[in-house]
Amino acid sequence: MSVLSRLLRRPGEDAGIVIEPMRRRDVPAIMEIEQVSYPKPWTPNVFQSEIELSRRGERHYLVARRDTRLVGYAGAMFVVGDAHVTNIAAAPHQRRTGVATRLLAELAWEAIRRDCQALTLEVRASNTGAQALYREFGFAPVGIRQKYYENVEDAIVMWCHDIAEAPYRARLAELCPEAAR
Ligand SMILES: CC(C)(COP(=O)(O)OP(=O)(O)OC[C@H]1O[C@@H](n2cnc3c(N)ncnc32)[C@H](O)[C@@H]1OP(=O)(O)O)[C@@H](O)C(=O)NCCC(=O)NCCS
Repeated sequence: MSVLSRLLRRPGEDAGIVIEPMRRRDVPAIMEIEQVSYPKPWTPNVFQSEIELSRRGERHYLVARRDTRLVGYAGAMFVVGDAHVTNIAAAPHQRRTGVATRLLAELAWEAIRRDCQALTLEVRASNTGAQALYREFGFAPVGIRQKYYENVEDAIVMWCHDIAEAPYRARLAELCPEAAR
């Protein structure tokens, strides 16, 4: 992305992103991103099992493509009125170009379609980049799970409430006009 187009980019601008349901055949490309994105990556089996649960409607997993290349993925699980974001990552060379914004907006609209009232997630205390993304979406920190990661690093628990209300829908539409609502 050129400096000029980046300067002109609005938050969440599409820039050729295509969103599709995550499929088993996506897992090798997902693993390439997963392994460089997390200190403790999920295994292929975890993704396969989450895809299976998506088929039963208990999860919702998406991939983002640009020019047919898989550049990001994200997923959520649904628990009595809340949607829990389980994973979200963008390919390193595609970061800060709106991939995660588009994926998170798609998950939020899906949560609204499923009559959820809130979104929630855990994020590493050191992961200030992801926290900035979540704040843009209206997530606020509500607590800390001490030594949640590898028995060493704290997790910040974040919640975003009233997602089905008109002000939040308007915020989502502004953050990412391209997301399917
Ligand atoms: C966190 C992550 C998913 C963000 O993905 P992304 O596609 O780069 O995010 P976007 O381009 O949609 O960013 C949207 C906004 O979020 C904020 N943001 C995202 N990454 C940020 C960073 N590293 N530092 C500061 N702000 C950041 C910015 O406000 C950004 O808007 P801007 O680029 O116009 O300033 C990506 O860095 C990643 O895959 N990290 C590794 C996996 C991970 O940590 N996942 C989260 C687990 S809780």
